[in-house]
Amino acid sequence: MNSLKLQTNSVASILPNSAVIVFVNPALADENTALPLRLPPEWSPSVEEAISALGFKADPGQVVCSQAPQALGAQLLVLVGLDSSSGDEAQRAEALRVASGAAVRQAPKERNLFIVSPVEQPAEVQAVSDGLLLGDYSFTSYTTKAKTPERDITLWVSDGGEILEASLAKSAEVVQGVNLARTLINTPPQAMFPAEFVTQIEAASQGIANLSCEILDEKQLKAQGYGGLVAVGQGSPNPPRLLIMRYTPDDAKSSVALVGKGITFDSGGLSLKPPKSMLTMKSDMSGAAAVCAATLVAAKRGVKVQITTFACMAENLVDSRSTRPSDVITLKSGTTVEVTNTDAEGRLVLADGLSAACDENPDMVIDIATLTGAQIVALGNRTAGVMGSEATRQAVVDAAKESGEDMWPMPLPGHLMKALDSTVADMVNTPMPAAEAGMLMAGQFLSRFVGDTPWAHIDIAGPSFNEATPWGYTPKGGTGVGVRTLLHLIEAHNR
Ligand code: BES
Ligand code: MN
Ligand code: ZN
Repeated sequence: MNSLKLQTNSVASILPNSAVIVFVNPALADENTALPLRLPPEWSPSVEEAISALGFKADPGQVVCSQAPQALGAQLLVLVGLDSSSGDEAQRAEALRVASGAAVRQAPKERNLFIVSPVEQPAEVQAVSDGLLLGDYSFTSYTTKAKTPERDITLWVSDGGEILEASLAKSAEVVQGVNLARTLINTPPQAMFPAEFVTQIEAASQGIANLSCEILDEKQLKAQGYGGLVAVGQGSPNPPRLLIMRYTPDDAKSSVALVGKGITFDSGGLSLKPPKSMLTMKSDMSGAAAVCAATLVAAKRGVKVQITTFACMAENLVDSRSTRPSDVITLKSGTTVEVTNTDAEGRLVLADGLSAACDENPDMVIDIATLTGAQIVALGNRTAGVMGSEATRQAVVDAAKESGEDMWPMPLPGHLMKALDSTVADMVNTPMPAAEAGMLMAGQFLSRFVGDTPWAHIDIAGPSFNEATPWGYTPKGGTGVGVRTLLHLIEAHNR
């Protein structure tokens, strides 16, 4: 990850080969001329001239690159539209992230960047930094073309100081977590299987105070009754794992448990997916990536909340040993489930994780999962669905808003439970034929494994993986959604 430096003295010392990024506010437009934000006075006339010569309208997130005016001493000028005047604090911060990310993504990769910060408040500067560092992400481990060298990214604020340095450090920590999740997701599934995932997280947790990892392998899972993880993973030569991260600060006043779905590849199993639907299924471990990355960042920060994190890792493949549609399995809780559809595997591994999590008696348990295609039908590719007990569900939605992630509350209608009855076991994993409300049905299934523990379930099937063109700070591929919301939630609980 490139790092961000703060510059607060004059703008005279710009590195050669730089692109200067300037934010432009359409709301300040006067007779069709949008105006740049917080420019050093000596640059204002020539940049304003460039804006009007280019006819730049500064639509939010719109980016235009041109040759820089002489006065800037740089080769490139990158203008980006930012409507920073509307919305509440959280919405303005998110607008800053989106514009910053769009600018950094579209500025040529080989240029050093010199960004004129459009804001000076610490929280807002932090949002700019978030957008710059998130937008600068790229996944190039598997391409053979020459890598672009590390570049300098300088954020210029006319009046800086220690407080801003702290904001930038905080931003870098969070982004490092999000980008870790993205890379875990983007890594092809032949190289990101359960044992590899847990090894990488364990390695990343080394040296962080009060954080330890426990790993259950397939034999231990079987012996300890994790029937969901075993059944889903048994068709793969890469056996399942349960990773348990325990963060136990001395003076914790509250506790949370996090549970993530970690299917490193979801073929559907014997209820095989069609080829097109399978293509993005390396991303089916995005929930596990989010909980592990959030836990690492929270622990590094030394939050005063006890965190126990369960990453439920398995690969759902086709084999003569695979679980068959109509097999009956016994989950960790003792509940028996008739597996009517092996492609509804996420709820089986999560049920085991939720049972183990609730055994710890946390103040609340949050699970996050790429659980259903129905989530995408209902809410699309940018909005996650949140279900669960009312207060916890609301706490997640609030944390999402604060962090700039898009999540929306969904109900768990009680009448849906009837459809999960089985004639041969305690329940089916999917009503057959699949009935209405697939996202809620999956949530209702999970609710059976949390007892009275305050609980929320986040379905990120759509927002976890961006197949469309990049936008704002969101690249193609793994997005790392959930990391920022979980961190906010933990910090809101830090009282
Ligand atoms: N991993 C998928 C859900 C998914 C679909 C995530 C598309 C991201 C994009 C999940 O395991 C699955 O296959 N769910 C089934 C459930 C059905 C069989 C009840 C689905 O949604 O089709
Ligand atoms: Mn599936
Ligand atoms: Zn799945």
